[in-house]
Amino acid sequence: MVKLDTGRFYSKLGASYQPGVLTKVVLAAEEFKRQGKKIIGLTGGMYDEESFPWREVKEIFSEAPEEDWRVMLQYGGTTGYQPLREELSKWMKTHGIEVDPYKELMITTGSQEALDLASRIFLDPGDVVLVGSPTYLSALSAFKAREPDIRVVRLDDEGMVPQDLRRVVREVEGEGKMVKLLYVIPSFQNPTSTMLPMERRREILEIAGEHDFLILEDNPYGYICFEGEMPTPLKGLDKEKRVLYTSTFSKIVSPGMRIGWLCAHQEFIMKMAEAKSTTIISNSLPSQYAASKLFQRGVVDKQIEKMRQVYRKKRDVMLEALERYFPPQARWNTPKGGLFLWVEFPPHLNMTELLMEAVERGVAYIPGSNFFTTETHHHIRLNYSHPSTEDIVEGIKILGELVSEKLSP
Ligand SMILES: Cc1ncc(COP(=O)(O)O)c(C=O)c1O
Repeated sequence: MVKLDTGRFYSKLGASYQPGVLTKVVLAAEEFKRQGKKIIGLTGGMYDEESFPWREVKEIFSEAPEEDWRVMLQYGGTTGYQPLREELSKWMKTHGIEVDPYKELMITTGSQEALDLASRIFLDPGDVVLVGSPTYLSALSAFKAREPDIRVVRLDDEGMVPQDLRRVVREVEGEGKMVKLLYVIPSFQNPTSTMLPMERRREILEIAGEHDFLILEDNPYGYICFEGEMPTPLKGLDKEKRVLYTSTFSKIVSPGMRIGWLCAHQEFIMKMAEAKSTTIISNSLPSQYAASKLFQRGVVDKQIEKMRQVYRKKRDVMLEALERYFPPQARWNTPKGGLFLWVEFPPHLNMTELLMEAVERGVAYIPGSNFFTTETHHHIRLNYSHPSTEDIVEGIKILGELVSEKLSP
């Protein structure tokens, strides 16, 4: 018998998937747990477990009549459960976006599927895609799978800088290429939690119109604002239908339900539905059914209000702990919404390398390097939505001690 040589079978794309630092941390954390040690995770954008609307979901299922169960246990359409699309389009209208629920909207398996579908439909190897620097790591992974030419646009304290966007677009066009897609997270950006002001939103749309490229707007965090309301999404300002918009239940109701959505020009929706049908024939119907009822019963809005308060309190606990335990060389922002804090250290401190040492001491974070396309290792992203307030304080204390040791002469 020939010994199986696993490497022999991979496609070029398959071979390119490598377990990243995150997978390694998850494995290390699992091993620690098996040994009975505790790891405080200041890592993923996970939901506060005390706050799930589980009673409401339970009630929806226990009240469902037989005719609804017949629908829920059957196959569904690829673009999603129609009553959910109708509820969503009504709800989005109250947040500044008008879309036709039958032609311009599809349900996705979280926003991540929308990012993957957009990559599959629009990107060929070498196509130019623009992203903010830093940006959401799994969007980068979705794009990279298509081997595009990724160019970065500068962010400042207010998110993507339109002037820099103009510079990058001119540079690309100067090379005789065209920009195909701009990926942007305007509201409480991941990882920096910056909020793009209204004027910048308008200017970015204007640039896209002048240079004829598409915008992929990702908005998982915008609804979680601690002060005031989220500015209108780019999609709400878009008269030419060049914005593809995605959002998700994951940060406002439940990530486990895997409910996301994508709004786009009806021709794009048709293409994406076709692409989706080769992997996910239809999304889980029970999950979509519950989501539609949660909208109908006003639970989504109540949940958003609740999460704003829960996360605001946790943000404050983390800010206070940072003041207390982090060394003066560290700088961080004060997010006005979302789930993350972004911390910068002096450039010589390699926070990617330090991660395993932190895990051994009982705390994990996401190294900032995962969000850059260049070798940049002196930032970290901290999550405050998932850990308890006690764990936030304890985790920041452990991490503060570790970085202070490394920074002391
Ligand atoms: C910016 C951004 N986009 C998309 C996603 C994917 O979320 P989901 O697939 O759970 O909707 C996340 C998750 O953390 C995110 O931060």
